[in-house]
Amino acid sequence: MKQREGFRLLEEALGGKSCGVCTDVVPNPDVESILSCTRQISSFKPEILIALGGGSVLDAAKVVAILLAAPFSKTALQEILDGNISLPKEMDALPVIAIPTTSGTGSEVTSWSAVWNKKTGQKYSLSHQCMYPEAALLVPALTATLSYENTLFPALDALSQSMETVWNRNANPVSDALAMQAMTCLFGILKKDFRRSFEALSVRKELQKASLLTGLAFSNTETAIAHSLSYPLTGKKGVPHGLACSFTLPEILRFNYQGAPERVTLVLKALGFSHVEEAIEALYMVFEDLGIWQYLRNYIMDPCELQELQHLLVSAQRARNNIVPFSQEAAVELLTAAFGRIVGRRC
Ligand SMILES: [Fe+2]
Repeated sequence: MKQREGFRLLEEALGGKSCGVCTDVVPNPDVESILSCTRQISSFKPEILIALGGGSVLDAAKVVAILLAAPFSKTALQEILDGNISLPKEMDALPVIAIPTTSGTGSEVTSWSAVWNKKTGQKYSLSHQCMYPEAALLVPALTATLSYENTLFPALDALSQSMETVWNRNANPVSDALAMQAMTCLFGILKKDFRRSFEALSVRKELQKASLLTGLAFSNTETAIAHSLSYPLTGKKGVPHGLACSFTLPEILRFNYQGAPERVTLVLKALGFSHVEEAIEALYMVFEDLGIWQYLRNYIMDPCELQELQHLLVSAQRARNNIVPFSQEAAVELLTAAFGRIVGRRC
């Protein structure tokens, strides 16, 4: 309904000037689905793409924009993704206007896209300077009819992304300032009876702003350990991204505080705490109030199910960004501790 309403408003604004519409983007898009959208959109001979949707739509549009300007075969694109090969420096893309209908991914202002391999559950990241959207239009009303889950999960993603920006080797004063502002706003909203307040337009507005700030912040840094841990949970178990990359945050906070207290103190400050253990407990309590344990149990019933994911938890790219080096053993321990807290027992 929401998308239909957003689409109607867009059509009206364009005054019949759109040349074609593609509605085939799937959640967590893979190479095949992106190529299929590209073929469809190519037949419209567009000069510009308008991406109206959630993070998957925005991410897919940015890849389609590249493929329309410089077509890669399926094999070539897969090789680039598999080998984590950089795209050619000199590249063009069709301009993209990003209109997010969820608040959290920040994809409307980043230069990368997540592309998935549905068979292996692997997540790739494609990035290039020319993938920055030409413009981002934030219209809070487009998020007005989002369900609780579709509001909560992207907000948790934004919270995770803002924390990951601060405990990051690539952090700088600008990314710190943007991320801390976003974190304060997000935590303030999430801890205050979010189940009741999420439908208020003022909250929708704040969430959209926080998502934008987060996107601008982690454009400087990329994400780190929480996102690394989340990929196999999403790829193999189907856990929604925002849920997968957030429930480990209290344990990561503790882990990173031990190795880099000065960086994590900035996170504590933004969340409104002076002591790390106080922040960890508060995060766990807020997560409980939000109901994220119940949601997580829909995907993973037993802590022992996590064992099969152990070798997939550390993405080299994300691990490099974390302010404290972390090993596969540390990754397993963090995930087990967070999940153990949820179900009250370990494998
Ligand atoms: Fe994310």
